[in-house]
Amino acid sequence: MEYRRLGSSGLKVSEFSFGAWVTFGSQVDNSTATECMKIAYDAGVNFFDNAETYASGRAETVMGNILKQMKWDRTTYVVSSKVFWGGKLPNQRGLSRKHIMEACDAALKRLQVDYLDLYFCHRPDPDTPIEETVRAMTDLIRMGKVLYWGTSEWSAEAIMEAYNLSRKYMLVPPTMEQPQYNMLHRDKVEREFANLYSEIGLGLTIWSPLASGILTGKYNKGISKDSRLNIPAMSWLKESITGEEGEKKLDMVRKLEKLAKEVGISLNHLALLWCLSNKNVSTVILGASKAEQLADNLKALDAKNLVNNEVLQKINAVIQ
Ligand SMILES: NC(=O)c1ccc[n+]([C@@H]2O[C@H](COP(=O)([O-])OP(=O)(O)OC[C@H]3O[C@@H](n4cnc5c(N)ncnc54)[C@H](OP(=O)(O)O)[C@@H]3O)[C@@H](O)[C@H]2O)c1
Repeated sequence: MEYRRLGSSGLKVSEFSFGAWVTFGSQVDNSTATECMKIAYDAGVNFFDNAETYASGRAETVMGNILKQMKWDRTTYVVSSKVFWGGKLPNQRGLSRKHIMEACDAALKRLQVDYLDLYFCHRPDPDTPIEETVRAMTDLIRMGKVLYWGTSEWSAEAIMEAYNLSRKYMLVPPTMEQPQYNMLHRDKVEREFANLYSEIGLGLTIWSPLASGILTGKYNKGISKDSRLNIPAMSWLKESITGEEGEKKLDMVRKLEKLAKEVGISLNHLALLWCLSNKNVSTVILGASKAEQLADNLKALDAKNLVNNEVLQKINAVIQ
């Protein structure tokens, strides 16, 4: 495992990290969650991603119990939470000072840690001035409850506004953003954020590197019973690979699968290494509902040198 700087910060994150969305506290049982965390940690993964909304907080409770049980030295891992969707009532969601402060305390309790290494604003909140959010995040950092704060799926314009406000009022600027990035979803990372890496030193912790499993090629043959696509709340994902648009997507996946075969690796390895080939990516957050999936995905690192410039060009020709 190699480690990259989180943007221009001094924090080092493993190239592959591991997240709890859909799985912890819902799709997988606690023993599978424990096995996955152990596989990841033993392979050198040092960043574990979570959010207040994952399984309504249960994902953080499960992860917190595992961290406690494993007794890993706190200096050896980075753990995150995200604030935005806490509950249904008006002040249980969004990025107001009140919700940020209360959500942070609740996440610390569930994760059973004294501080969050990374704390993300899970989405932009049109009902809260960005200055209020930047001030709340700065205060959490000054209180020692959070080390670095960032955003997820914010626009480049909103990130720049947060950055400029923090410079103007001597507050703490955002360090990282968490966008979706994979061979089927590239625009934000490659175009919209293009200037932010050098201008403000933005780091990226990217999500859904396999487009929720579509980039393993398994949906080319239909949808298995135990897939996340069959979870009722994920019907939007199922719809994304059905119909005319879905067929176009699967057609591209079939072409990529053929290319992976030529390179001599699996499609999931090709897809993960493609994400890593972007030097603006600080870490690729893996997801898995089975220990074997995670173990297999981590093995992609052994094939790093096979995904050279020539292969990257061939991939680009398919996904352009
Ligand atoms: N900030 C945000 O808004 C946001 C949004 C989404 C995710 N995230 C973060 O990013 C993390 C990763 O996202 P993700 O879970 O969508 O990642 P992903 O790698 O795109 O998808 C993971 C899913 O793909 C399937 N899969 C993975 N490896 C496989 C393999 N080798 N063979 C067959 N199937 C495989 C599994 O689904 P099945 O159960 O269907 O087999 C697995 O749960 C999340 O855990 C979360 O921490 C953040």
